[in-house]
Amino acid sequence: MKCIVSLFALALLAHPVLAQAPAATTQLQTTLADSDNGRVVASPDDLPQLGKSPLADVIAAMTTREKALLLVGMGFRANIPGIPPMSPEDAKIPEKVPGAAGRTHAIARLGIPSITLSDGPAGVRIDPVRDDDTTRTYHATAFPVATLLASSWDTALVGNVGVTFGREAREYGVDILLAPGMNLHRNPLGGRNFEYYSEDPLLSGHMAAAFINGFESQGVGTAPKHFAANNQEFNRMKLNTVVSERTLRELYLKGFEIAVKEAEPWTVMSAYNLINGVHSSQSPELLTTILRDEWGFEGFVMTDWFGGTDPVEQVAAGNDVIMPGFPALTAALVAAAENGTLSQEQLDTSVERVLRIVMQSPTFRGVEYSEEPDLGTGAAVARRAAAESMVLLKNDDGTLPIASSHTIALFGNTSYDLIIGGSGSGDVNEAYSVSLDAGLKQAGFTIDSELEKRYTTYMVDAKAKRPPPPMPFFPPPPIAEMSVDAETIERAARNADVAIFTLGRRSGEFEDRARDEFELNDVERSLLNDVSEAFHAVGKKVVVVMNVGGVTEVASWRNAPDAILLAWQPGQEGGNAIADVLSGRVNPSGKLASTFPTAYTDVPSAENFPGKVLPGDHEPPPIALMGLPSEVIYEEGIYVGYRYHNTFDVK
Ligand code: GLC
Repeated sequence: MKCIVSLFALALLAHPVLAQAPAATTQLQTTLADSDNGRVVASPDDLPQLGKSPLADVIAAMTTREKALLLVGMGFRANIPGIPPMSPEDAKIPEKVPGAAGRTHAIARLGIPSITLSDGPAGVRIDPVRDDDTTRTYHATAFPVATLLASSWDTALVGNVGVTFGREAREYGVDILLAPGMNLHRNPLGGRNFEYYSEDPLLSGHMAAAFINGFESQGVGTAPKHFAANNQEFNRMKLNTVVSERTLRELYLKGFEIAVKEAEPWTVMSAYNLINGVHSSQSPELLTTILRDEWGFEGFVMTDWFGGTDPVEQVAAGNDVIMPGFPALTAALVAAAENGTLSQEQLDTSVERVLRIVMQSPTFRGVEYSEEPDLGTGAAVARRAAAESMVLLKNDDGTLPIASSHTIALFGNTSYDLIIGGSGSGDVNEAYSVSLDAGLKQAGFTIDSELEKRYTTYMVDAKAKRPPPPMPFFPPPPIAEMSVDAETIERAARNADVAIFTLGRRSGEFEDRARDEFELNDVERSLLNDVSEAFHAVGKKVVVVMNVGGVTEVASWRNAPDAILLAWQPGQEGGNAIADVLSGRVNPSGKLASTFPTAYTDVPSAENFPGKVLPGDHEPPPIALMGLPSEVIYEEGIYVGYRYHNTFDVK
């Protein structure tokens, strides 16, 4: 967590409010003193109390500073040079859920508690160990990623994942989950596509609604994100997305519209990027006219972490809560309220929205939580949901299912090191994960031991040698696919009954996928061809398992194997779930939720993704991740995915 904070820390130096902080803070401290001095604090017993007194009375009793505090998060607990420290008072308050992404301020004298916001779309992401308690761990279930769940086309299944997931969040004391992620797979190289459902807004909307209804049925809130059009990682915090009104409405807003109308989420998280020149988190059109006036959303809107540039514009636009927050933002809101640039009415409107959600929260309702979620049920639900959602792309001559008496020659790094999910805020600290070789063995298959030894030795050695990730939350660099000599392949073809080759592609927040990740690399391609030739020469079959975070090129190699199973990133029980399908224990019934283009050049946004840095001599950001002012033009309009291929008859 610390290193991730330093990334944002450097971003903050560019934050306009912070940049003015010294003067503003000094001036504000004077103001604050006056406004605080101006209040005669009634004796505690006749102060209105949230939930007991009319809400209007509670709001009327709040000082301007208290209102501002409610709208600005408590910040990050880390003394990192450059990031404004938490206020001394806040730094003294222990986290209810250590490692959760954010907290709102409490206003104790009025009975307003702090509520806890935690990532992420594939599982509760909190610290797995705690400084003050070395006797146990705090793991959560790593569920299948959204793209795999959407491939089920089964809202009941996704709703059930939501219920199970919601119970875990509640048992850890979380009030709001920062999920589901529901931007679109606009381009196969989008870094966070794994966290999003589909290229299609209708499917995305119904999947999200099912998840939200399931999750919130457990009395815990959600935050569908990132509203809106945050479909890439490249310079996301300073990226202007140029998109037509029709495209926005029919594609990039439509999923959120369905989710808001069908599931009434407690909150929505606005996006980092600008839309047609206006920051998503500062757009009255997006957050008030569309989200509230047209769709009837009644919860509160929060920023993405350190998103946007102007807290006053954010609150005025309808972005009620600024996360993770830092003291200068509170001061800026107080100053704006004092000098009238932010009306009391605007302030009170946001305060009321937040208080209504706080009153629904488990914390406010005093819901008991055990910190002992039922991870056994979580694992079982994750396994079943993963197996149900996988997509059988090819199965010639009944290659699958594989008889459990068969010996399997298992090729491919990720056969022994499954990619169960993506990195970044969508990661999970799960207690364990099941690799494919382990899953196959647990299903009763015999694995070719020589190959297993070769791969596991290679993987251990490669992991020991690879450089550490540039910072936690970043995926370590991928391990080069191990080459296998012809003699070993021949021997495997003689000894085993069937070959399985797993193709792995990682994915993660903060960066889009490299262009060359879309196709197989030379080692993968030659390995697949060599294995196919050797096994076909002796009348045996070859199965490819795709353990990928986004669509990849398939057309050039799909004729080599006899069967192809698309497993996406299946969560902690992934190895067992894939084995369930390969053994026939579970019938694969998933269907594609995103198009596999024949070639990257056929992708309608291939020309304009991920956009360009705007001309001008921009101050180089301290770290590339902070990004440069950029722009992407959605030239393809509504023609994304199958809408493009079907309309223009592109295979
Ligand atoms: C991140 C992500 C968002 C996440 C938040 C808190 O930057 O964009 O999805 O929920 O910050 O970690």
